[in-house]
Amino acid sequence: MVKPIQRYDADEVPWTAQLEVSSTTVEAQSSVIVTPRVAGADPSRFSYNYVWSYEDLWQEGFWDSTLNSEGECTASPTWEFHPRWAGSYHVYVDVVDENGDYRVVDVPIEVSFSARRSRSLETAEPVITVDDVSMVFNIASERFDSLKEYFLALTKGELVFKEFRALDHISFTVRRGEAFGLVGTNGSGKSTMLKIIAGVLEATEGTCTVAGTIAPLIELGAGFDMELTAKENIYLNGALLGYRREFIDEHFDDIVAFAELQDFMDMPLKNYSSGMVARIAFAIATAAEPDVLIVDETLSVGDFLFQKKCEQRIKELVESENVTVLLVSHSIELVERICDRVCWIEKGHQRMLGTAGEVCEAYKKLGG
Ligand SMILES: Nc1ncnc2c1ncn2[C@@H]1O[C@H](COP(=O)(O)OP(=O)(O)O)[C@@H](O)[C@H]1O
Ligand SMILES: [Mg+2]
Repeated sequence: MVKPIQRYDADEVPWTAQLEVSSTTVEAQSSVIVTPRVAGADPSRFSYNYVWSYEDLWQEGFWDSTLNSEGECTASPTWEFHPRWAGSYHVYVDVVDENGDYRVVDVPIEVSFSARRSRSLETAEPVITVDDVSMVFNIASERFDSLKEYFLALTKGELVFKEFRALDHISFTVRRGEAFGLVGTNGSGKSTMLKIIAGVLEATEGTCTVAGTIAPLIELGAGFDMELTAKENIYLNGALLGYRREFIDEHFDDIVAFAELQDFMDMPLKNYSSGMVARIAFAIATAAEPDVLIVDETLSVGDFLFQKKCEQRIKELVESENVTVLLVSHSIELVERICDRVCWIEKGHQRMLGTAGEVCEAYKKLGG
């Protein structure tokens, strides 16, 4: 990890500095040109250090060369930055005079998804089509204290089932390359919807079609065998995702590195914390580019830095425009940051479908 520049302001210096930027609001994949300007001294004797930071994460000790960059130079500096995805960035520059006194000047830069991206989304082919889907669960209307009582009632034909409608006429289409979010209070049917899309559950009414391969991160630990070691589980889970053995051999080190579990590979998974399991699951699911990546709350069990790392990886997949991402998260801010469109499902009913901005705003006002 590269050490970020220490923040320090020499207020006594007899000169001033400021940053000139081409624009403070830009689109992802375009560029920002930053030039420090010094007044009250001869700038040709100065040197400069800079940090380009994503959401100020370097202050948390987080560094990623795809998000951050740093360097130093002398005399008439101009830097061109290429933010790879949307988010809040900051450019910090240490302006250092010939005596080694310095000021830190910074400028915030907001990066939005590229317009090219929203335009291409409108014409991209549908990958997930949910057409008037309802899901009815049969639940026993009576509580039984033991299995024996339950079977007695069953054989006597006294068992009464009550229908519970977990999803009621849900419809939406998700296009290739789109990041689509589902929001709604607990028990509203989000996971049920994702399971239908993943093919784990079959809809009671309506149809759901998916084109391509799916990497589902639905229930934590699903597809894992807790008695096996992490290494064995990577192969097992990879096989369930349809990866060839050679593919896993080839990507094994990357998966382990992303999960940051190099020292724990031969430990049975049952000794892992839920955060560690989530890290492995996420690393495997995103080792290849699936057509559809489904993420259901998986990120909430990880620590802050891991969540940020996953967020980045998801954004990278989203920006590739080949991967369609379905996201359910407790963090409405995360949904808002990552998703293009969002469907709000409340107690099984489709309440709202629209852009991430408008749905999340309404949800925060009324639901959250
Ligand atoms: N297999 C099942 N059998 C009966 N009820 C279920 C089953 N799965 C989910 N439910 C019920 O369906 C509702 C929606 O659950 P879920 O999709 O997990 O909600 P969410 O993910 O939005 O919190 C809940 O009331 C839940 O208890
Ligand atoms: Mg759920």
